[in-house]
Amino acid sequence: SWFLFWFLYEFIVLSAFQQQKEVMLKSSPADLVTETDQRVEKILISAIRDKYPQHKFIGEESVAAGERLELSDSPTWIIDPIDGTVNFVHRFPFVAISIAFAVNKQTEFGIVYSCVEDKLYCAQRGGGAFLNGEPLHASGQEDISRCLVVTEIGAERDDLALSTMTSNIFRLLKLPVHGVRALGTAAVDMCQVATGGADAYYHIGMHCWDIAASALIVQEAGGVVMDTDGSQFDMMSRKVIAASSSAVANRIAQVVQAFPCRRDDEDPSKSLCGAASN
Ligand code: IPD
Repeated sequence: SWFLFWFLYEFIVLSAFQQQKEVMLKSSPADLVTETDQRVEKILISAIRDKYPQHKFIGEESVAAGERLELSDSPTWIIDPIDGTVNFVHRFPFVAISIAFAVNKQTEFGIVYSCVEDKLYCAQRGGGAFLNGEPLHASGQEDISRCLVVTEIGAERDDLALSTMTSNIFRLLKLPVHGVRALGTAAVDMCQVATGGADAYYHIGMHCWDIAASALIVQEAGGVVMDTDGSQFDMMSRKVIAASSSAVANRIAQVVQAFPCRRDDEDPSKSLCGAASN
């Protein structure tokens, strides 16, 4: 059945990639969705549901359409049908599907398929991480001043979010790190840490479907994931550091500040409060 998902994704996403798309806005002028995102998610969920009718789903576009986001102990599929929708709209060639499967709130396996590159990253808890069948290993780098760091600007455009994000990049560059990169898809960005091609990744404001699969891929490649405040990784917190070593992860946690954003599993009727913090 993985072959079926892969085939559908290649067939639908790649054929739409070169075409003009009708773009709709979600939470901000930079938070986009297309008919292809919605279509791919529907096909995936209905194919999985046919086989596993009891399982639950957290899908980016289902949540955008008003479905409640809840991660319980039940077997749950966490799906981003197109991670990198802005890239997809512009034909910038990094777009991925991200599928994670969690039981008791713990990810058991994760798949990130970067379809234009034809790169399939996957990991199973305790079974290692792989790229197109080859084992993945994080770099093991411990010295922040030798790190290539990946991050994302995200879709937030309010002053506090923008100034926090730009000053985070400023402080990292001043450490100095070797460089800061952004591919436009959180899932693929994070997998770069698993390959050793990047030494660290951090992000504030993404959602659980962007990073659930790639967090396991990084861990299974020998990397470390944590919250940007240095606490245990929580896929609902909308803050993540993935790194080659604990030393690098902790150093990034000291430097990076977060702007307030509502947890994925928080009641949307509650208001945001608080100032920037790490
Ligand atoms: C987005 C991408 C982007 C990140 C945003 C995400 P989407 O996911 O991962 O790189 O900066 O925070 O929301 O909307 O393309 O699935």
